[in-house]
Amino acid sequence: MALVRTYGCQQNVADSEKLRGQLQEMGFAFTEQEEEADLILFNTCAVRENAEFRVYGNVGNLKALKRQKPSLIIGVCGCMMEQEHVAEKIRQSYPYVSLVFGTHVVHKLPELLYQTLTSGKRVFSRGDDSEDKTIVEGLPIHRDRDIRAWLTVMYGCDNFCTYCIVPYVRGREKSRKPGDILAEFKSLVEAGYKEITLLGQNVNSYGKGLEEQVDFSDLLNLLCTVPGDYHIRFMTSHPKDASFKLIDTIAAQPKICKHLHLPVQCGSDRLLVQMNRHYTVEHYLELIEYARKKVPGITFSSDIIVGFPGETEEDFQKTLELVQKVGYMQLFTFIYSKRTGTKAADMPDPTPRKEKTDRMTRLLKVQDDIAMALVKAQVGQTVRVLVEGYGRNEGTLSGRLDNNLTVEFEADSALMGSYAMVRLTGARATVLLGELVES
Ligand code: 5AD
Ligand code: SF4
Repeated sequence: MALVRTYGCQQNVADSEKLRGQLQEMGFAFTEQEEEADLILFNTCAVRENAEFRVYGNVGNLKALKRQKPSLIIGVCGCMMEQEHVAEKIRQSYPYVSLVFGTHVVHKLPELLYQTLTSGKRVFSRGDDSEDKTIVEGLPIHRDRDIRAWLTVMYGCDNFCTYCIVPYVRGREKSRKPGDILAEFKSLVEAGYKEITLLGQNVNSYGKGLEEQVDFSDLLNLLCTVPGDYHIRFMTSHPKDASFKLIDTIAAQPKICKHLHLPVQCGSDRLLVQMNRHYTVEHYLELIEYARKKVPGITFSSDIIVGFPGETEEDFQKTLELVQKVGYMQLFTFIYSKRTGTKAADMPDPTPRKEKTDRMTRLLKVQDDIAMALVKAQVGQTVRVLVEGYGRNEGTLSGRLDNNLTVEFEADSALMGSYAMVRLTGARATVLLGELVES
C-alpha cells in the first residue's frame, strides 16, 4: 500500500495525482494510514517556510515507524527537493529517507522506485531544467475526486517575483500543446467531470514558445467548443499578462465561471517594483473596472503578501485602500517568508515580526467586513450551483457558486454531482443558505 501526502498548491495536488497514477499501474493500492503503508511519499511545497517546517516535522515523526518496519520506503519529492540545501539536509539529517526527487522527474517515479528497491542505496534525483522544453504527456492520472478535476496547461514560471522560490524549483515556463490539452479535456467531460480547473503558475502567458500561435483566450475558446454539461475555472492569472481579450472571453463564454483570481500582492507601486511585478495599481484597477463593465456580477479574489522587506505603514495603508476599492470576495493572505536564493532574501527587512502580524490582523478585519457585506448582497439571487457534498445540517447538500462561495440547501442526495438552481435565502458567516428551486 502507498500513502502519498500533498503539501502546497493545486499544481502539487495535480502532480500527486500523477504519482498515484503511476503507483496504481505498478500495483499499489492507497491508504491514509501511515502504519498500513509500505511506501510513504511526501510531495512538498517550498513557497513559505512554515510549509517546509511541517514537512521536516512529519518526516521526523516517521523515524519510529521505520525502525518498527524496516521494509518501509520513505520518499520525499516536490518543490522543496529541487533546492540543493534541502536535499542535502535530508541526506544528512534523515538517513531513513531512501528516495528523494524533484518536480522535474515526476514521470520517472517507477524507475526511481525500482532503483531504491534494488540498489540498496539511497536514491537522489533533482531535475536539471537546462533548455529541455519537452513535456512528458500521457502519464496515468489517479484523480482524487469525481466531480472536479485539475488540468495542467503549463508548467513553471519565468517571472521571478523577487520573493518567490517557484521559478527556481519549477523551472522555466513550458506550455502543453493545445491538442494534448483538448484531448485530456474531452476525456474529462466524457468521464462526467463537471468542474475543470486549468492550472498554471501564470496561465495568462500560456502559449509562449509553442509553434502554434495561441494564447490563453484562444485555448479557452477552443475548450469551450467541447459539448457537454460542465464549467471551467482557471488559475493563476498574473495581472501583467491578464488581457482585455481574456476578460472579453470570460464575458462571451457561458461555460467559464464569472470569477477572476488576480493576485495583486500589495497596493503600493513602490513595493510592486521591488517585487518585480511589472504592473501598477492603476493598471490593475483598470483591469478590474473593465471586467466589472464587461462581465456583470463578476467577483474577484487575490493573494496579498504582508510585510515584504521594507514595507512601511504607508505602503500597507495603500494595500488596505486597494483591498477596499476592489472589494474581493476572497483574499489569501500571507506574511512574507524569506526564501533562500531569491532576490528579496537580500533586501533589508527591518520591520519587527510583531508589526507584521499586527498589519495582518488589520487586513483580515477589513477583508472580513468586505466579505460579509458581499455575501449578504448575494441573498435574494437565484443561482446555478454544482452539488458537490453534504451540508453541515442533516438533510442538506452543498454546492459552490461561480465566485467560489458555498451554499447549503435541503435536497435529496441523488442530486450529488449535478447542477441545481438554488435561491439564496440567507447566510451563516460566509456560507450561504438557500432553497432548491428546480433541478
Ligand atoms: N512569502 C509569502 N508569500 C509568498 N507567496 C509566494 N512567495 C511567498 C513568500 N516568500 C504567496 C504569493 C503567491 C502565493 C501563491 O503565495 O502571494 O501569489
Ligand atoms: Fe512566483 Fe511570481 Fe511566478 Fe507567481 S508569477 S509563481 S508569485 S514568481
